[in-house]
Amino acid sequence: MKIPVLLDCDPGHDDVMAILLAAQHLDLKGLTTVSGNAPLAQTTYNTRYTVELAGITHIPIAAGASHPMVHTVDFTGDIHGESGLDGPVMHEPEVAIRSDHAVDFIHEVVDQTDGVHIIATGMLTNIALVLRRYPGIHSKIASICLMGGSLTHGNVTPVAEFNIWADPEAAHVVFTSGISIKMVGLNVTRQVSAIPNIRQDIRDIGSHTAVAVADMLDFFSAQLEKLYGLPGASMHDPLAVVPLIDDRILTFQPMHVVIELAGTHTYGMTVCDYRERKNEDGTPAGKPPNADVAVSVDVDRFWALFLDTLKHYP
Ligand code: RIB
Ligand code: CA
Repeated sequence: MKIPVLLDCDPGHDDVMAILLAAQHLDLKGLTTVSGNAPLAQTTYNTRYTVELAGITHIPIAAGASHPMVHTVDFTGDIHGESGLDGPVMHEPEVAIRSDHAVDFIHEVVDQTDGVHIIATGMLTNIALVLRRYPGIHSKIASICLMGGSLTHGNVTPVAEFNIWADPEAAHVVFTSGISIKMVGLNVTRQVSAIPNIRQDIRDIGSHTAVAVADMLDFFSAQLEKLYGLPGASMHDPLAVVPLIDDRILTFQPMHVVIELAGTHTYGMTVCDYRERKNEDGTPAGKPPNADVAVSVDVDRFWALFLDTLKHYP
């Protein structure tokens, strides 16, 4: 029996990889879109393109928040290109999206589905809005697996990762919700790079989905190599999906995480307390853990899963 999930995303190259993993290995009840890597209209367009590319047009799509709660984000397109998914030649998608807002669609699915998990690979605006619009929904969400934050350095600032930085107030709502959270941050995702020989292995699969993914990763890799000196595209978002597919890929450690909302230099930082302090009587000191944070990754096991997954798409 596949695990029921919803995936909230901002495609975005790595969001596409997350969609492909979730659609094949999990019971993907729906996709919801948020702005982030590009404006909402574009991330929604890219989601429609992705489901048509992979032949998964049965999965409903609902559009969500076009802007963060408080922060203002300019969609510079410097990482993912003007389209938010530069690289492959994209055909005009025909698949329609739902008429209801992502917040209401998420509520409908959670209300009707026992044990549903939410995977979030963009800023957390939609998820925070659901929690505020439907206060009793917490108890019906099995967990939230999110790509965001970092145990070490940031990307959009020295200390803040983009998905959290783009809407820290929404992240605060999520991290204080009491819902079981798996946080997959840059400290592990930056260890999984689509280096040239892996991109060639993907292209050699030869299907139109695999070739399009190789085109995406070639573009995304060139951008990250140019802007951060990385050896290839970081597989940020698909790593937020893998805990629900194979729990041997990521290792987690429980810790207390707060979101910095006021810092001049640290706005949007995930402040993770993993000092493991003890009280005089040996009991754990400090605030109780509110998240499981990814601390290590089995890179080879991830790539084996990802390439095998791609081989099953047309
Ligand atoms: O910081 C990386 C995250 O920001 C990824 O989810 C990427 O798609 C962008 O949304
Ligand atoms: Ca993303």
